[in-house]
Amino acid sequence: MSDDKEKCPIVILISGRGSNLQSIIDEAASGRLPVEIRAVISNRADAAGLERARAAGIETRVLEHGGFADREAYDRALAELIDSYHPALVVLAGFMRILSPAFVRHYRGRLLNIHPSLLPRFRGLDTHRRALEAGETEHGASVHFVTEELDGGPVFLQVVVPVRPGDDPERLAARVLEQEHRLYPEAIRWFAEGRIRLDDGERLLLDGKPLHEAARLAAEQELGARS
Ligand code: GAR
Repeated sequence: MSDDKEKCPIVILISGRGSNLQSIIDEAASGRLPVEIRAVISNRADAAGLERARAAGIETRVLEHGGFADREAYDRALAELIDSYHPALVVLAGFMRILSPAFVRHYRGRLLNIHPSLLPRFRGLDTHRRALEAGETEHGASVHFVTEELDGGPVFLQVVVPVRPGDDPERLAARVLEQEHRLYPEAIRWFAEGRIRLDDGERLLLDGKPLHEAARLAAEQELGARS
């Protein structure tokens, strides 16, 4: 996949740190992930991830919500900006805004999100603290197609991170994040290689066959999570 013409054009949306963005940049640069990152767009000018994109020579844009009448107006402007790059896929990487139904419909089947929990468990914020408080023995992260239901779209790939005795939200979050950095590039690879698709009935197709349950990345010990 050295030729740009074979690569899947993507736009990545961020709001902050951008560590997942970095994992995508690194995998793309290594040649293992056949994507062309056409732009990184942030809703916040101070998002640290913008610097990561600039350092990699990727075009960055900032679209802050100030000045827009409402969520729909902002989302229309955002979609216009995204579409000016003609991506085949839009990747949410820590983009911390609720998206309007019209926006989500516009990108149906070509909008991915990563969420730090084993969905459908723990939608929304503060997932690590909530998982610990619920006494979970397993936690993790999920990648899903975005639908109008918040954190509710079809999940196709997950990674499991065991909860350890003595975990606090920060320690657990750090181990989950490490696995997110393996999970998201792999999920994007599935899309870029045409392996995963959403059909008209919001069902997942993997290699053309219905996928009834999210696939799970290789066992965590193989991923070095115990180290
Ligand atoms: C990640 O943990 C991601 O899963 C989460 O925000 C963090 C962004 O970190 N996303 C959500 O909670 C979306 N609901 P990053 O900016 O370092 O990639």
